[in-house]
Amino acid sequence: MVSSKQCDFSPLVCLSDFEREARNILPRNALNYYKSGADEEHTLADNVAAFRRLRLIPRVLRDVEGVSLQGHAILGQIVSSPICVAPTAMQKMAHGQGELATARACAKKGTLMALSTLTTVALETIAEEVPTLHRWLQLYIYKDLEATLDVVRRAEKNGFSVVAVTVDTPFLGKRREDERHKFTLPSHLALANFADQKNDREMYKVEGGGGKEGGGGGGRSGLSKYVDVIQNHSLTWKHIAWLRSHTSMKIVLKGIHSGEDARLAVEAGVDAIWVSNHGGRQLDTVPATIEMLPDIVRAVRSAVAKKKGGAGSSGVEVFVDGGVRTGTDVLKALALGANAVFIGRPVLWGLACGGEEGVSRVLEILNEELRLSMALSGCRTLSDVTKDLVRHQSSFSNL
Ligand SMILES: Cc1cc2nc3c(=O)[nH]c(=O)nc-3n(C[C@H](O)[C@H](O)[C@H](O)COP(=O)(O)O)c2cc1C
Repeated sequence: MVSSKQCDFSPLVCLSDFEREARNILPRNALNYYKSGADEEHTLADNVAAFRRLRLIPRVLRDVEGVSLQGHAILGQIVSSPICVAPTAMQKMAHGQGELATARACAKKGTLMALSTLTTVALETIAEEVPTLHRWLQLYIYKDLEATLDVVRRAEKNGFSVVAVTVDTPFLGKRREDERHKFTLPSHLALANFADQKNDREMYKVEGGGGKEGGGGGGRSGLSKYVDVIQNHSLTWKHIAWLRSHTSMKIVLKGIHSGEDARLAVEAGVDAIWVSNHGGRQLDTVPATIEMLPDIVRAVRSAVAKKKGGAGSSGVEVFVDGGVRTGTDVLKALALGANAVFIGRPVLWGLACGGEEGVSRVLEILNEELRLSMALSGCRTLSDVTKDLVRHQSSFSNL
């Protein structure tokens, strides 16, 4: 059982300090689930490493008194910062209050939070307890389309403004540590958004051979078998049109990793594209998200211009997550065309270290680092952050 004790934050000055501390605090089951990537974890590592391959070229003498992130809008919603919280499942394994603590920290900081479908606190509770939260719902489209729509309708009714459909998970990636230790949700916790669907808990605890599809056998984790049972393995672009016809919420596709899919997404009429490889947890050896971002931004701009029949402003926003650990990472992502940057694991580390206070501190640190990086590169506002701030390190090799 995770303690709800708070640790001393004063020596924790960056996100990797929180990670180190959290690794000492979390029970093995939870730590393995949170930290793991797929297969050999190449993409997991590269998401972080790729940011280091990009170098910042600062400008000077530009009056950076009063650097400000204010007035930034994401899909029409004014937020305190372009740094947002990505959906991560089952947060009560990190802290007794789970998603509620994260939501409270986000609301206090004016940060946007995308709530996972697979939460340990029901979406209604989040809406009721934290009414000021800028909240999005992350959605998995299940085989049972009625059950899927039920979650969407409940989110609409409870003030969620955007639905982020995760499209990179027709099956769960192979996470070796979860398989070795047969990861399953601890018995005192439940998937709260489905509390009234009688078989969910039972399916989740399935032991033995698991589903027929997707490969794998008896060694797989409880979660992987559960996803096999409920997840729609036959998703196509038609399901996005189907969702569009059933909701007035804005639609974001989370898990786009190619320019061609970005183009199809624009044609499908989505409101934004979220460049993500699920934190390196799905298909291993895909490129780091920050390296895919420029291609996708280009594809989106050209598809939007074509759709409008001329050169146009973007119109479809692009977000990115994966490996963002410092303010300079955020600055690079914004410079390369992201309108928002999401963080996954660092929030879980903050949660493990001290619930709401821990998450607040993680958000504060990253925002402080972003402001400082902006000032040191000659950017007073977010509109000063442009592509010429960033160069790939390989471009220096011809000296
Ligand atoms: C423990 C964990 C659980 C996650 N659960 C979900 C989920 O339920 N739905 C989803 O779309 N993405 C999920 N993700 C992916 C995140 O939304 C995000 O894409 C990823 O964590 C970003 O990478 P980062 O952890 O390096 O910041 C999860 C990631 C982790 C680490």
